[in-house]
Amino acid sequence: MHQPVLLQETIEYLLTDPNGVYVDCTLGGGGHLSHLLQFTGNNVHIIAIDRDKEALEASREKLNFPKITFIHADFRNLSRILNGLNISKVNGIMLDLGVSSMQLDMASRGFSYHKDAELDMRMDQEQELDASEIVNNYSEEEIARILFDYGEERYARNIARAIVKYRQEKVISSTLELVDIIKSSVPARYKRGKHPARRTFQALRIAVNSELEAVQEVLPQATQYLVTGGRICVITFHSLEDRIVKKFMQEQARDCICPPDFPVCICGHKARLKILTRKPVLPGENECNQNPRARSAKLRVAERI
Ligand SMILES: C[S@@+](CC[C@H](N)C(=O)[O-])C[C@H]1O[C@@H](n2cnc3c(N)ncnc32)[C@H](O)[C@@H]1O
Repeated sequence: MHQPVLLQETIEYLLTDPNGVYVDCTLGGGGHLSHLLQFTGNNVHIIAIDRDKEALEASREKLNFPKITFIHADFRNLSRILNGLNISKVNGIMLDLGVSSMQLDMASRGFSYHKDAELDMRMDQEQELDASEIVNNYSEEEIARILFDYGEERYARNIARAIVKYRQEKVISSTLELVDIIKSSVPARYKRGKHPARRTFQALRIAVNSELEAVQEVLPQATQYLVTGGRICVITFHSLEDRIVKKFMQEQARDCICPPDFPVCICGHKARLKILTRKPVLPGENECNQNPRARSAKLRVAERI
């Protein structure tokens, strides 16, 4: 069961018109959406997107509400999705990034370094690229880059070298096989802190699902579709995503985005957003105790001007 993070805070920020149009770009188990629906009127319209078909179907069954349009898609295609529905403006858009507990808990999806499974990690099971392809076919340099850039893994080179050495003998086919390779290539002291495979698994997951590119691409589209006063709420779970969201909101909240050493403005950029959370909203101690996944969560909200 997925426990939604920063639930109340997100919905309080998101809801500006009880009969408006709202987009949940990351439906998952529908936790945030169910809460939103408690405060909406009869004329609300919801567009619920997820690229995980299983999650979408499970939530479709659970959320028996006529005003929801369920879409199996990548949110990076938000403009195309909304155009296809003849929607030109929406009142709020939410993104609760990363994997859901359902995806993590289902061993067969290959997201967990605690459970043995095929090296999959695809959110959209119709996608071709999976973690096995990266681990077994990418070059040592490319694997090291992925682990370093997306996992901020300090032993990226050691792990990449061990992966390539191992696969010369045998295809790496399971999550726990990969965990053993990681354990064999990092110093003993690294195994005493957090799980030594944590960063590698995060990095592979981000690479398999092009997670950072998707966030980068959806934010300008979301901004374009918001009505004046409409809001975008984004919950992130690691610094790489948060940096993208923070930088985007800061840029869109400025009239000029020329480099600071330009004597006069040549960009002609006009602010489109007002940041409502100068500092990100963090979960309280209580929520973190009840839901350890919440510990790294950050909510940022901006309003269309
Ligand atoms: C953290 S969960 C969302 C949980 C949801 N807010 C809830 O309360 O149940 C993230 C969901 O977003 C989906 N997702 C992640 N990236 C996506 C993308 N680029 N396009 C569509 N769905 C995506 C995942 O498949 C996952 O189901």
